[in-house]
Amino acid sequence: MVGLQNKVAVITGASNGFGRVIAQKCVQSGASVVLAARSEESLEQVAMTLRSSRVLSIPTDVTQDSDIAHLVRTTLERFGSVDVLVNSAGFGIIDPVKCAALSDFQEMLDVNVYGVVRCTQAFLPHMLAQRSGHVVMMASLAGLIATNNMGFYSASKFALVGMSRALMLELYGTGVLCTLICPGIALTGFQQRAPIERYARSTRLVPWTTAERVASVTLRAIERGMQGEIVIPRIGRVFAVACTLFPGLARRVMSVIG
Ligand SMILES: NC(=O)c1ccc[n+]([C@@H]2O[C@H](COP(=O)([O-])OP(=O)(O)OC[C@H]3O[C@@H](n4cnc5c(N)ncnc54)[C@H](OP(=O)(O)O)[C@@H]3O)[C@@H](O)[C@H]2O)c1
Repeated sequence: MVGLQNKVAVITGASNGFGRVIAQKCVQSGASVVLAARSEESLEQVAMTLRSSRVLSIPTDVTQDSDIAHLVRTTLERFGSVDVLVNSAGFGIIDPVKCAALSDFQEMLDVNVYGVVRCTQAFLPHMLAQRSGHVVMMASLAGLIATNNMGFYSASKFALVGMSRALMLELYGTGVLCTLICPGIALTGFQQRAPIERYARSTRLVPWTTAERVASVTLRAIERGMQGEIVIPRIGRVFAVACTLFPGLARRVMSVIG
């Protein structure tokens, strides 16, 4: 798929942060856009700022099968097809593994992993039938590198990375693409549940990014039909490779930094 003119993009987590800016850029590129998140009020505010008749907001909790069935049904009724799914709904809670609440972990898995699975499995059959489409997974640098205090969040994003890599293999030759985006830290609504003071000092080794940058890179990948993995900023990839190649050294360095 090249370009977004007259395409239909469904974006979860569209009421804030990355999803919100991705939605803006999709509209600017000529797509019809479905905004999905839990807060109806926030979605309506985003829809108002987009000022387009080709924007539909559908309150959706990605942990609820019935909400996702409604999202699919309403999208197809209104626009007839779906070309892009951006799985951006997600959140993090920052606590050491030794004392973090199991219920927080379960909630993160339900949104960050199962939520993505639910949405992807719901939209994929339509993309496969039309032999075109693009699924974007918003993972994290925390899905490639483990740091102090992010054990449960990292586990949810490592799971998403592994699943996305497998999906890319499965989709080979089908006409449907999958892109995995792994951003570093960006100041968004994310920090409401993940206060920046709790991040490990070693997270500062990678420069922060912005929602604007993440959205621009995501849009470029969709418009150019690029699949694969993208780390933002790029230097994050160097750290991820170094941690894989030299795990003992990486652990010592990060333990010293904290
Ligand atoms: N910001 C960062 O530093 C950073 C870095 C790397 C990766 N990420 C990842 O990027 C993605 C987007 O994060 P962000 O920074 O844009 O955070 P954000 O500003 O807090 O936005 C999160 C979005 O997800 C929605 N959401 C949360 N739970 C949901 C649920 N159960 N069902 C449907 N929607 C839900 C929120 O809306 P409602 O609350 O209205 O549902 C909101 O629209 C997440 O997957 C996050 O893990 C973030």
